[in-house]
Amino acid sequence: MTSEHMHRKDEHLALAEAHYRHARPQSSLNGMRIIHRPLPESRLDQVDLTFKTPDFTWPYPFYIEAMTGGSPRTGKLNTQLAQVAKETQLAMAVGSQSIALKDASTRQYFTNVRKENPDGFIIANLGAGHGPKAAQMAIDMLAADALEIHVNVAQELVMAEGDRQFMWLQNIQAILAAVSVPVIVKEVGFGMDQDSIQTLTDLGVHYINLGGRSGTNFAEIEARRNRDHPFPLDYMFDWGQTTAESLIEAKAVKPDAKRHIIATGGIQTPLDILKAQVMGAQAVGVAGHFLHTLMQDGPASLTAEIQSWQADLAKLYTLVGANTQADLPTVPYILNAQLLSYAQQRRRSN
Ligand SMILES: Cc1cc2nc3c(=O)[nH]c(=O)nc-3n(C[C@H](O)[C@H](O)[C@H](O)COP(=O)(O)O)c2cc1C
Repeated sequence: MTSEHMHRKDEHLALAEAHYRHARPQSSLNGMRIIHRPLPESRLDQVDLTFKTPDFTWPYPFYIEAMTGGSPRTGKLNTQLAQVAKETQLAMAVGSQSIALKDASTRQYFTNVRKENPDGFIIANLGAGHGPKAAQMAIDMLAADALEIHVNVAQELVMAEGDRQFMWLQNIQAILAAVSVPVIVKEVGFGMDQDSIQTLTDLGVHYINLGGRSGTNFAEIEARRNRDHPFPLDYMFDWGQTTAESLIEAKAVKPDAKRHIIATGGIQTPLDILKAQVMGAQAVGVAGHFLHTLMQDGPASLTAEIQSWQADLAKLYTLVGANTQADLPTVPYILNAQLLSYAQQRRRSN
């Protein structure tokens, strides 16, 4: 039997992949260029890509972002993604587990991830409308190593059946106080602004995924799904800050040693990962592009692609003279006119 919720999961998958095929996203990081320096004094064999935090260490600074689970079709993709994550030592987030909290028969489409990858770094996922009890259940379901709480107000409002109340801060605070693992708060693709980043920092959120526009577009996906709406919702397709703009926003926030910035949205190449890191992200999430490789060419191709990205990213660190990510903030870069104007207009006056 297919529930409405399961059907939504399958539709997200089909529409995300159809959009990707129709028009591969153009990374907003194309608006930023790293300055080439021909004397880097670097050696590939000294590069260490590790993403290290007080809570955990990943051997690579990018991961498979939340996408699937909850229906037989998406459950199968979760199995394949978990196998790929295991082979490539990447961390992996599952898609929202809210369906599995409501319908126990769908849990298998998430727990398969832990079965396939018993020692891997697995990230649970739930919307910010949930409280601490649900959050801990989502974590326990996967023996998860971290929890992502997604915030997606624009997506919900474009969705015919979406939420209409967004009183989230108390939930986030209660979840932070209650759960047993590090918490990442993430946007699903509309980006963040400096005040929201500061608000999350003040709440004690140490991991913030900016989730910017320029990749998978949930305004467009939900608009296509929303057949009840009397008028086209295409005026919403450009809502939000791109990933590059969100990174500019994050730079404008008062520094905080405990805060870790993660960038997701439109990442298409290892160079996009490097650029996001040079602009201040410590880790980078990839969803739509990996999904496309998996659906078009299968899990062996995705494993090969990720392994190639891992090797290429080390070469890119060498190219810019970085041994570790601690060296990246001093790498010089320029912004195109549009991003420069954005940065000037959004510079804090205080
Ligand atoms: C099919 C699909 C389903 C998704 N479902 C979720 C979800 O359940 N929870 C979530 O936090 N993000 C979800 N996302 C958002 C991604 O994690 C990511 O933030 C977004 O797609 C932007 O990254 P991208 O441009 O690399 O795709 C989904 C993405 C895709 C493509």
